[in-house]
Amino acid sequence: MCADSASGDLPTQTSHRSDVTVRPLAEDDGDALAAFGSALPEDDWLYLDMDLQSQQTVERLVRAHEATNWRQIVAVIGDEVVGYANVRALPGWQGHVGDAHLVISPAHRRRGLGALLAQSIIAAGGQLGVVKLVLEMVEEQSSGRQIFERLGFRQEGLLLDQARDQQGRLHNLLVLGYRLPDPPDA
Ligand SMILES: CC(C)(COP(=O)(O)OP(=O)(O)OC[C@H]1O[C@@H](n2cnc3c(N)ncnc32)[C@H](O)[C@@H]1OP(=O)(O)O)[C@@H](O)C(=O)NCCC(=O)NCCS
Repeated sequence: MCADSASGDLPTQTSHRSDVTVRPLAEDDGDALAAFGSALPEDDWLYLDMDLQSQQTVERLVRAHEATNWRQIVAVIGDEVVGYANVRALPGWQGHVGDAHLVISPAHRRRGLGALLAQSIIAAGGQLGVVKLVLEMVEEQSSGRQIFERLGFRQEGLLLDQARDQQGRLHNLLVLGYRLPDPPDA
């Protein structure tokens, strides 16, 4: 899985906020990613579908920082991770589709970081060579939806009672999809 240095070709960007850098997750980001995860509110674990409070999960993500079928992106301020996004090419007959996740540190929300990382998700999808991106989010969660709809994502499905939270309650999952533009030389 960790074959060649695939994530290294995602460009590092500086946002309109000069203190924020958006770059690929690196091998030595483990502690900062764990600190980021431990500051996430409980509700976010549901929206994220991955438990960043778990050291095992963080280690797995960091180990996969060069995986050929993943792009993992962090927004950092100094040494602090303040946002995390990933896109993973799905296996088998969905190999042309990338599945994306996005989460921003609660202390840094509503400052444009989510929108910034959402753009990186689209760029990462292009680098993975997928032609379509999908995102799943709990129906009650509308904030992430607006970010992605502004970029051209559209609702493609609603899966009833598809997600179960830590209290055992069931939630509907919205599926948003986005068709990447064809590359200029296609
Ligand atoms: C959703 C999330 C990523 C937004 O990150 P963010 O950095 O706060 O987003 P931005 O500041 O870039 O917001 C961009 C736009 O999204 C919308 N938005 C963001 N948060 C919102 C909220 N809490 N309520 C309503 N709209 C919201 C707004 O339209 C906002 O534009 P505006 O600030 O000009 O009004 C963040 O709240 C988060 O991590 N939530 C938990 C995980 C999650 O839901 N992920 C998305 C599903 S993959």
